[in-house]
Amino acid sequence: MNHRTEASTLPRHVAIIMDGNGRWARRRGLPRHAGHRAGVGPVRAAVEQCARRGIEVLTLFAFSSENWKRPRDEVSKLMTLFLEALDREVDALHENGIRVRFIGDRSQLSHALVSRLAAAERLTADNEALTLVVAVSYGGHWDMVQAARAIAVEVAAGRLSPDDVDEQCITAHRALAGLPPVDLLIRTAGEWRISNFLLWDLAYSELHFTDRLWPEFGEADLELALEAYRSRRRRFGRTDEQMKVGEC
Ligand code: IPE
Ligand code: IPE
Ligand code: MG
Repeated sequence: MNHRTEASTLPRHVAIIMDGNGRWARRRGLPRHAGHRAGVGPVRAAVEQCARRGIEVLTLFAFSSENWKRPRDEVSKLMTLFLEALDREVDALHENGIRVRFIGDRSQLSHALVSRLAAAERLTADNEALTLVVAVSYGGHWDMVQAARAIAVEVAAGRLSPDDVDEQCITAHRALAGLPPVDLLIRTAGEWRISNFLLWDLAYSELHFTDRLWPEFGEADLELALEAYRSRRRRFGRTDEQMKVGEC
């Protein structure tokens, strides 16, 4: 029945919208921030599992452009949590051969955080086990705008002509430039929307939604998502017959 090769059944690039921290906390009568703290463990576990499974890229949505609209106290505690988690985890990530990359609007972040992000990227730049992309202050709209602006600069400088601006050119200027396309997007906590996460990049991703809240997302949940992915028939506009091994 399954005519695809084993290699094509494992996604190269998995992206996760880690949602439900607040609800997890509320159900326990805890402040929202306790939910964010409880979400750090599942991040570590998902990174380890993806590396072990041979997935090439894991992209995690940690904080959106719109999340700046949350109460100041929640935002500031989240920023502290990012700083602490980064300081605590970066050496272990490096020892495990993981390359870390951050995407998002850094002009909104504190100098301390920006310099830590850059240091983590520098330290792990040559690692090859798994690329971990963390989206902080990220929005799909922001990504399109920064790509358009970068291309406009090239055109204004005469290094590109307007005719050079094609799909390949935009692909090369997105935040995820140079990485394989997102094969599988997972969103937790029962919401069926993209919430301004990757837009260009999700054009042909398989989508998997689960009711599990992020702080409770475990190994079995990720395996379930990978299993669901295995059963999908990806056609990319073609017919089933064309997709049979050897014909594409
Ligand atoms: C996701 O959990 C974490 C961030 C958006 C930073 P939420 O904080 O959105 O949790 P819910 O959706 O309120 O349960
Ligand atoms: C999306 O979750 C952003 C992250 C998980 C970082 P939200 O909780 O902010 O999304 P909405 O507001 O419910 O769409
Ligand atoms: Mg939410």
